[in-house]
Amino acid sequence: MLNNISEAIKEVENFSPKTKEDIEVFRLRFLAKSGTLNSFFNEFKNIPNQEKKEVGQMLNKLKNLVKEKTTNPLLSNKTEKKVGLEDLSKPVANNCIGSRHPLSIIEQEIVEIFSSIGFSISEGPEIEDDWHNFTALNVPKNHPARDMQDTFFIQTNPDILLRTHTSSVQARYMQKNDPPIRTISPGRVYRNEAVSSRSHCLFHQIEGLYIDKDVSFADLKQTLLYFAKKLFGKKSKIRLRPSYFPFTEPSAEVDVYWGLETESDYRITKGTGWLEVLGCGMVDPAVLENCEIDSKTYTGFAFGMGIERIAMLKYKVDDLRLFYENDIRFLNQFSNSI
Ligand code: PHE
Repeated sequence: MLNNISEAIKEVENFSPKTKEDIEVFRLRFLAKSGTLNSFFNEFKNIPNQEKKEVGQMLNKLKNLVKEKTTNPLLSNKTEKKVGLEDLSKPVANNCIGSRHPLSIIEQEIVEIFSSIGFSISEGPEIEDDWHNFTALNVPKNHPARDMQDTFFIQTNPDILLRTHTSSVQARYMQKNDPPIRTISPGRVYRNEAVSSRSHCLFHQIEGLYIDKDVSFADLKQTLLYFAKKLFGKKSKIRLRPSYFPFTEPSAEVDVYWGLETESDYRITKGTGWLEVLGCGMVDPAVLENCEIDSKTYTGFAFGMGIERIAMLKYKVDDLRLFYENDIRFLNQFSNSI
């Protein structure tokens, strides 16, 4: 069988069509249901296991070659005019357009949803001081809530750290701006966690903050429902479960209804149909005061979500590490997304 495949590979390599029809005949011969490739693959099923690796590799090579010869648009254009007379001074064809990173695509989508309802975008430093990352947000030194976010500290100065969430940007924003405040803060954050398919020592977040007179929990819920419908589709439902964050009171975790129809729905949602996507709550008055906002006049809500998690759900990616490896085969799959 190896011999036959090698013969076929040679033949494909030497194939130089003169017309489009030539390509079509060639394509049918190799790729049709009863074509050469399928008959090889049928034969492949019956060969002994120890031969499978080598034969499989050859077969894949053949398949890719055939595809290349039958789909390369340059090849088919060229054949229309003059075949054989290659213009060697021609610049290399560059028909490989890059694509945006899936995390950027999702970030952009989320940013657009919130911009359209009046949220501005705010950014801050990734190397942060203790006060903005923790103390201002109601997590003083030695508070047990610090354990929720394993932190990278700068060894020579324990007051400086890699921000563990973009809530630090909100603290900065509140110091500089008077209410009404409506802002979202996208950015990279760091946590000292073991790298696995589900967690990484760096990831991306978008956090939101809304402060004004008479802002209520109902406003928070409606804003998040609007967001979920825009991002996951009109039929989306959300539910809020009580939770704890030091900077919000009351706090909640938000689940989006994903569905429970297929086996993978069961797996992804652990059999509940619901997926946890973000944390939120009413900004604790102590946080407002820390950032010089009068908590008797103003109330507000805040929420925060991980971009990776949402990208994994939307694109059905089951290993977080793929987002950082820059494997071109992975990234190319998003070239049609925007
Ligand atoms: N900062 C929280 C986190 O990183 C998320 C959050 C933001 C929760 C705002 C409530 C309100 O886990």
